[in-house]
Amino acid sequence: MTEQLIEKIETMEKKHEKEKHQREKEYPKSSLTLKIYRANRRAGESPHYDRIEVPVQRWTTVLDALLYAKAYKDQSIGIRYSCRMASCGSCGMKINGIPRLACYTKVSELQGREITVEPLSNFPHIRDLVTDFSQFFAHHHNVEPYIQNDIADMQEKNKLTEFIQTPEDVDKYLQFSYCIKCGLCYSACPTVATDTQFAGPQALSQAYRYFIDNRDTAPKERLNLVDNRHGIWRCHFAGSCSAVCPKGVDPALGIQLLRGHLLGYSKNEKKVAELEERQKRD
Ligand code: SF4
Ligand code: FES
Repeated sequence: MTEQLIEKIETMEKKHEKEKHQREKEYPKSSLTLKIYRANRRAGESPHYDRIEVPVQRWTTVLDALLYAKAYKDQSIGIRYSCRMASCGSCGMKINGIPRLACYTKVSELQGREITVEPLSNFPHIRDLVTDFSQFFAHHHNVEPYIQNDIADMQEKNKLTEFIQTPEDVDKYLQFSYCIKCGLCYSACPTVATDTQFAGPQALSQAYRYFIDNRDTAPKERLNLVDNRHGIWRCHFAGSCSAVCPKGVDPALGIQLLRGHLLGYSKNEKKVAELEERQKRD
């Protein structure tokens, strides 16, 4: 059953790739319309859409098209970006309704002659396509996303030690360390939409990334950090986070793996408590 499902998904992916390349090949040099969400509440402007015609070629990205519109048609368009190469995570926005990186989405991949660009959902809105990431980064910060190690003392040079990891050790967390904090998964998450205190897929997958790193010596504390009513148990496993992630992090997988450890840990803790209880009695 699982093998059949994997085969079906692989066939669909191959078909999608083929169609994508075909569309790119056939894409004529032409123009298209950007339908841009505009709102500047500070200036008392109510939300509306502006339609701007921009010239495109098949390798034009949505970010290129937006920057053209900003440079030549309307300099007041609010947009955030930096690297233009899917590394900094700043150009996230909804493109035709789906959270994507504007610099990583070619116009030729999209259907139709009109592209709708809107700010990411689940983030407080600032202006036009720009959203506020404070809450998102607070969740990230709360899972203590750094190696904690009580063996190495960076202050005392003679206590510094080497941490040898095998390729298998690295494999356990590598995929999760590709996260660029773009917030696309957070924007796609239906649980975040109903509970802003929920840590969200990005923070939880990073909790797993550090939990499973064998250089870290605080796994128990890490499990405690996510074991609360706004933590890991709020995830309904919709899987939309993994579907939109541009870096192949698969946050939903990280959450499920972390849950597995948490369940095992609780079971072990229970067993230890029972044993201690029995010892006391005997
Ligand atoms: S897990 Fe993926 S989608 Fe979420 S913030 Fe990291 S890179 Fe972006
Ligand atoms: S501009 Fe850096 S990820 Fe798009």
